[in-house]
Amino acid sequence: MALLELQNFSCGYGEMVAVSGLSFTVETGDILALLGPNGAGKTSTILAIMGHVQIKAGTLSVDGRDVTRLPALQRTELGLAVVPEGRRLFSDLTVVENLVVGGYSRPRADEKRNLARVFDLFPRLAERRGQLAASLSGGEQQMLAIGRALMSAPRLLLVDELSLGLMPKMVDLCLDALRRLNQDERLTIVLVEQNTERALNVAQQVCVLASGRSVFAGPAEAARRDVDLLHSYTGAAS
Ligand SMILES: Nc1ncnc2c1ncn2[C@@H]1O[C@H](COP(=O)(O)OP(=O)(O)OP(=O)(O)O)[C@@H](O)[C@H]1O
Ligand SMILES: [Mg+2]
Repeated sequence: MALLELQNFSCGYGEMVAVSGLSFTVETGDILALLGPNGAGKTSTILAIMGHVQIKAGTLSVDGRDVTRLPALQRTELGLAVVPEGRRLFSDLTVVENLVVGGYSRPRADEKRNLARVFDLFPRLAERRGQLAASLSGGEQQMLAIGRALMSAPRLLLVDELSLGLMPKMVDLCLDALRRLNQDERLTIVLVEQNTERALNVAQQVCVLASGRSVFAGPAEAARRDVDLLHSYTGAAS
């Protein structure tokens, strides 16, 4: 059974429909890359899955259970977590304080173990544990945003624009961490990424959105064979 399934899914804001007729499934242990040009509806989809943007039609299922109308907090309890676009850290809190906030839905007894897991994944965060989030480099802030999401011990991690504004080396460090989580712990991931090649290197499945509609959905292997076609969908230069 798929961990996440969207069927004929539409979402939007008030009267405005941002995404319509979207269907895809994500199996446990898979990474799905959600690609598409600016304004395609990637963030709206991610936020609607989390329960922060209104689902207007269709169904959203987790483990085969219809959660279309489930409040956001309960989706977190089901094991969904997001690394939001722009990171949205608490800039005047320290690294550790940001991480502790991320674990709010978990028992206090799990906090130490989850902190140790994040620090093992990102030793740079361990070294900077008392530093304010605002004083971190962009790459370190992205590590902290990922770490904060991991503090809820999710089964499905939704990552929106991992590489935005980061140097390639930092992007690789963050992607390597996601790959490690996927391989070692079978963490299931939906990855919104501007860089098509990088996304295809880590993903097993791909879904491309354009103007709120799915224009390509299938295995990453098929997409890798025809990157030019994919670029024509995503609007990237080939
Ligand atoms: N809060 C909002 N209120 C109304 N419309 C919105 C809101 N947020 C996004 N939209 C609209 O929804 C559509 C999809 O935007 P969305 O942010 O989901 O795209 P995106 O694929 O994430 O783009 P980008 O690559 O620039 O991040 C756009 O037309 C956008 O203007
Ligand atoms: Mg976006």
